[in-house]
Amino acid sequence: MKVPHIVQIEDGSARGLRQDAHEGLLQARAAIAPKFFYNALGSRLFDAITALDAYYLTRTEAAIFAAHGAAMAHAVHAVTGPHPVMVDLGAGNCEKAASLFEVIGPSAYVAVDISVDYLRQSLLALQREHPALDISGVGMDFSQRLVLPAGLPGVGSGPRLMFYPGSSIGNFAPDQALSLLAQMHRAACGGALLIGVDPPKSSRVLQAAYDDELGVTAAFNLNALLNLNALLGADFRVAQWQHVALYNETASRIEMHLQAREDTLVTWPGGQRVFRADERIHTENSYKWSPARFTQLLQEAGFKQVRRWSDPQDAFGVFLAWG
Ligand code: AVI
Repeated sequence: MKVPHIVQIEDGSARGLRQDAHEGLLQARAAIAPKFFYNALGSRLFDAITALDAYYLTRTEAAIFAAHGAAMAHAVHAVTGPHPVMVDLGAGNCEKAASLFEVIGPSAYVAVDISVDYLRQSLLALQREHPALDISGVGMDFSQRLVLPAGLPGVGSGPRLMFYPGSSIGNFAPDQALSLLAQMHRAACGGALLIGVDPPKSSRVLQAAYDDELGVTAAFNLNALLNLNALLGADFRVAQWQHVALYNETASRIEMHLQAREDTLVTWPGGQRVFRADERIHTENSYKWSPARFTQLLQEAGFKQVRRWSDPQDAFGVFLAWG
């Protein structure tokens, strides 16, 4: 049996993350990037979110893959040939990519995620199921720069299938999303991008999805504070904060914030800040893109051809972009 090839690139990433967090916390309106959710516990809490009834995104996307996976694979193969290298961005537990292995038939699989430890577990399990497949795990912050390290087993310079499901593109502001899509276009080496995108819908449905009754999303959001304590040496006390999710209809995005329940002083090596009661730390935006606007974004990023599949209610969409 082959073993997964695991690489952690960007040695300075812990320092970079600390610097990002420090600067974000000291902004006039404190804000941190959603990447601070994803320590080992955060990745598990996200998995729990995807199992919630109210969080329609994951199950709807899975239903689209189940209904249209064969048609998607046919369209992919026409661009990449029958056995593409599949590059899974933000792979997490790798389940979504694995659900497409049978129809896509990848020659090699590269899972990229910021949390390399979580990736290691998922890849070991995946390798047991696919003993002959070349599997790599790359720990890196691809939102900064999307260039795969050289020498990954089975990964040459031919066309690749880039895979970015789950509407994670929605966690980037439009200008950042455009630059990330342009990098995916380049990294596909003439291949294709398969990407999941959540369209706008009623604020009632969105509110329930991002502020669920069980409090799983609240725990996911609050866990960012524990991650900051570990990464930055900060002294956030979770009990002093609460989860807030609100739909900003003008910007077509759900916003998540952490709101101070009382005045609180937070300190960390090299910094400190007093948060007044009700003051917020903005932790995430989740943009909802209409099919027309997202098609335009893909074209601006350099893709010439676009196809889209969705569910009968059109609650979610999967785009294939190439050329
Ligand atoms: C990962 N990302 C697409 C999720 C989203 O829906 O924006 C993260 C999330 N935040 C709250 N719930 C889920």
